[in-house]
Amino acid sequence: MNFTLITGASKGIGAALAVRCAQEGMPLLLVARSADLLETLAQDLRTTYRVEVVTVGMDLLETFAVRKLYNYCVENDYKVRVLVNNAGLASWGEFEHIPLEDQLNIIRLNQTVMVEMCYRFVPMLKEMPYAHILNVASTAAYQPVPYFSVFAAAKTFIVSFSRSLRIELKKKKINVSCVCPGPTETDFFEKAGFEKFGNAGYKMKPEEVAAAAIRGMINRKAIIIPGFSNRLGSFFSKHLPTSWAARFIAGYFKP
Ligand SMILES: NC(=O)c1ccc[n+]([C@@H]2O[C@H](COP(=O)([O-])OP(=O)(O)OC[C@H]3O[C@@H](n4cnc5c(N)ncnc54)[C@H](OP(=O)(O)O)[C@@H]3O)[C@@H](O)[C@H]2O)c1
Repeated sequence: MNFTLITGASKGIGAALAVRCAQEGMPLLLVARSADLLETLAQDLRTTYRVEVVTVGMDLLETFAVRKLYNYCVENDYKVRVLVNNAGLASWGEFEHIPLEDQLNIIRLNQTVMVEMCYRFVPMLKEMPYAHILNVASTAAYQPVPYFSVFAAAKTFIVSFSRSLRIELKKKKINVSCVCPGPTETDFFEKAGFEKFGNAGYKMKPEEVAAAAIRGMINRKAIIIPGFSNRLGSFFSKHLPTSWAARFIAGYFKP
């Protein structure tokens, strides 16, 4: 049996991706810190869609976490065919006032953990037919976002890395896609500290983001931007002078 491994699957976009994959009949290996939330979701998916679901309660920021996760898969003969790097976090505010450790954790989870996941699982993916890597970035990748500065830069890294890896892994028959959601109805903005201050405006539902992401991945798209307004915004961000886009966005997020 081959599995779809989804990080950050306990809630939000990750949980919606798990539901979408279960609807496609894909066996799942779900990872996040909240073991109880994962198990509740898994029970629901097993009963509703009759798919195999394995849960792993794990903090991916702990030392050797990715190596332990990989070894756990090998020891249990869980062959991963689809790798979804979704776990992520953000902090909103003035750079100098956000605790350094919080900022470094954004980089660690979005970049270091994601790169290590790809590195460790590629040899296993290479052995699988129709293998995919789906990395979750953001429309924030398309321009600097003052007051979400580290998050936006980390997501730019994911887009660039995914595009490069896509070309390198094509000859190994592994598809690499990158999904760039815009504002989505999850705990994201509240956890980042922004919700207390303002509203991020129109938000897509995580189910809509997940449906677009999985459809795009199956169709082997390089970059998936769910939602027309997000595609339009990203188009302008790519074509306007970067300094204009950054100044415009700064006005929106300024504390
Ligand atoms: N929502 C948006 O507006 C938006 C927009 C663009 C991009 N994104 C991206 O979409 C992805 C999912 O975000 P979301 O909106 O669904 O946020 P969310 O509701 O806060 O979910 C984040 C997920 O990541 C997991 N996670 C966080 N830290 C972890 C750690 N150290 N180890 C393991 N798992 C961890 C969380 O589970 P536990 O807390 O149980 O560990 C949760 O399942 C992220 O990469 C985010 O950057 C979101």
